[in-house]
Amino acid sequence: MPASTNSWIDVTAEKFNYSLEHFVIPKHYENDLQSVMIPNGLVMDRIEKLARMIVDDTRGQQPLVVCCVLKGGHQFFADLVNFMKKCVTKQGSNVPLSLEFIKVKSYENDQSTGNVKISLTDEELAEFKGRDLLIVEDIIDTGRTMVRLLDRLKAFEPASVRVTSLLLKKTPLSCGYIPDYVGFAIPDAFVVGYALDYNEHFRDLDHICVINDTGKAKYAVKEA
Ligand code: HPA
Ligand code: MG
Repeated sequence: MPASTNSWIDVTAEKFNYSLEHFVIPKHYENDLQSVMIPNGLVMDRIEKLARMIVDDTRGQQPLVVCCVLKGGHQFFADLVNFMKKCVTKQGSNVPLSLEFIKVKSYENDQSTGNVKISLTDEELAEFKGRDLLIVEDIIDTGRTMVRLLDRLKAFEPASVRVTSLLLKKTPLSCGYIPDYVGFAIPDAFVVGYALDYNEHFRDLDHICVINDTGKAKYAVKEA
């Protein structure tokens, strides 16, 4: 088990509730947000630390396959990989990285049951046999999608699988799954920004923010 398991920044609504006026917010979103939860600068500082923890726990005998879970994970993945490239192992060498991208769709109803559809074919997944994997996810909410993804990946016999998620939502709906490396444990609110979306909007917002009712209504998917 990695040495750094279960260490994260505990985000509480009392302490992480910055007024929008203190930050640069794109004009097209300024009426749609309640507050800034985690400013971009803090996100970046925390990712640098995650990169170091991950590299510290890596032996680096063979390339580490870093798998980005699309779409929400892309910004975290890009920044994490950039920091990891600058880190060295205890033996003083850089970890060779091989980059993969997985689009995961969870077909779940309200009770979060159902199947996870993965964009990689069985043939492509078979390439993971004997490899060391690091799965990079933006947010773990109920945890069910990740549990199913891991089940599927493990069927292809990778040598090891570790998971990092930038955010872990403290929700009563959690199935109990906890990733190996977590950036922030956050309150049970819907967050957007830093590539996290609400119906494909807000990915172009730098800070992790809480959406408000105006934003939810404005970008709601209208039934045909
Ligand atoms: N924001 C964006 N995407 C999500 C969230 C969230 O709070 N929870 C699960 N997917
Ligand atoms: Mg995600």
